[in-house]
Amino acid sequence: MHARRFAASITLLLSNHRIHASNSEDADTLTSNLIQWVRGSGGFVSDKIAFRHINDDPTAPRGVFAVQDIDDGETLAIIPWDLIIKSPERAAGKVHDRWSHDDCGVIEETLKAMTASEDDITPYGKYLLSQPLNYTVGFWTEAGQDLFVRLTGGILYENNTLPPTDIDDQLIWEFEKVCDGDVTDPMNVQAAMLVRARSDYEYMVPIYDMFNHDNGKYNIQHKFNPYTSPLEETGYGVITTRKINAGEELYNSYNRCNICDGYFDWFGTPEVFQHYGFVENYPQRWLFDLARVKVELTAQDDGQVKVKFLVPPSKRGIDVLSKELLRLNDFANKYQHKSYAELGMRGLEWNSMWEYYDAIYAALTYITESTEPLVDDVWALGDDWWVQEGTTKEGEDDHTVRKTSGDEL
Ligand SMILES: *[C@@H]1O[C@H](CO)[C@@H](O)[C@H](O)[C@H]1NC(C)=O
Ligand SMILES: *[C@@H]1O[C@H](CO)[C@@H](O)[C@H](O)[C@H]1NC(C)=O
Repeated sequence: MHARRFAASITLLLSNHRIHASNSEDADTLTSNLIQWVRGSGGFVSDKIAFRHINDDPTAPRGVFAVQDIDDGETLAIIPWDLIIKSPERAAGKVHDRWSHDDCGVIEETLKAMTASEDDITPYGKYLLSQPLNYTVGFWTEAGQDLFVRLTGGILYENNTLPPTDIDDQLIWEFEKVCDGDVTDPMNVQAAMLVRARSDYEYMVPIYDMFNHDNGKYNIQHKFNPYTSPLEETGYGVITTRKINAGEELYNSYNRCNICDGYFDWFGTPEVFQHYGFVENYPQRWLFDLARVKVELTAQDDGQVKVKFLVPPSKRGIDVLSKELLRLNDFANKYQHKSYAELGMRGLEWNSMWEYYDAIYAALTYITESTEPLVDDVWALGDDWWVQEGTTKEGEDDHTVRKTSGDEL
């Protein structure tokens, strides 16, 4: 119904994977203030859930957990419209086809929420302020981005070989060009990044944005479709999709949720990393355009990772990926003993980069060691080789995977 080009690219939010509040009591206080605020403003947060560290380990990421059994379809939270950060246009009930109005608006409102005076700042504003700075790759230092692009086999601002195909975060440039935003101001930049990494549709939604992502364990969903519901009346709801036992973590899916149409097919592990700043657990999806390889990796009960080729692999494709593995070995040999400081990047970027390295290295290893029969059929296909009949729900311009032509190499 909408031209969803940009909205789709900001859909869905990020988790607490990257919250490293300097001390966890601060984060606990921020969270409990946030919950009290939602409850005291006409919203609902179930007392059957708790926001805490995974395994109660203070060094582990935080997540949302069931503290007692929860029924299938039970409501976990309702966030009233007034507490959701949205553009003034949307607040006034206007819907624009052009993404920029809403996106400028939501970034500006997020900035206002974060920079309000001590008397006016909301618990959500404080919570957003506590998030790590510039944590997605498009917002890293130039040195950090440069090294990341080398990892992917390319040169910053020029090219790369392995996904994600383009680490540049266009939101920041659109924020500058279309919104006249000040991209030299760190707080403006942080607001834009948080909108990229945490917004759902054109909304910044407290509480909702605290559920971690896992496509294998996804057990919550939207109660109301934000694309079609009168959220002014309903607020923003989160419900379970199955019965949950006490102690289980509650997970969202940031790309395969019940409203994630445009993201479903092509948006995989590299894109999750690029947009949200973390490496997802298995199942993972990888599209390697240069090799015309598209896979789903799943962890089995015995811990083994299984490779499911979504398009039959070719010898040429596997050879290309084997070479990439060797290149990645060289990359690690060259850089792993250096320090991030001597390279001019931040510790957060360095750790995040190696986390991605490990993930892509593992993926390439599983793929190249697979015993799947090799056939050349994929090279006879057109640029849409990766589209599987019946599995893609791609909108007309959502796919940003770099296309290769069969006879290019
Ligand atoms: C990237 O660009 C550089 C310089 O233009 C070139 O030497 C290199 O081969 C290119 N790499 C890829 C993967 O296209
Ligand atoms: C975040 O990025 C902005 C814009 O590049 C920069 O001004 C700011 O210093 C960065 N902050 C950190 C902590 O890297």
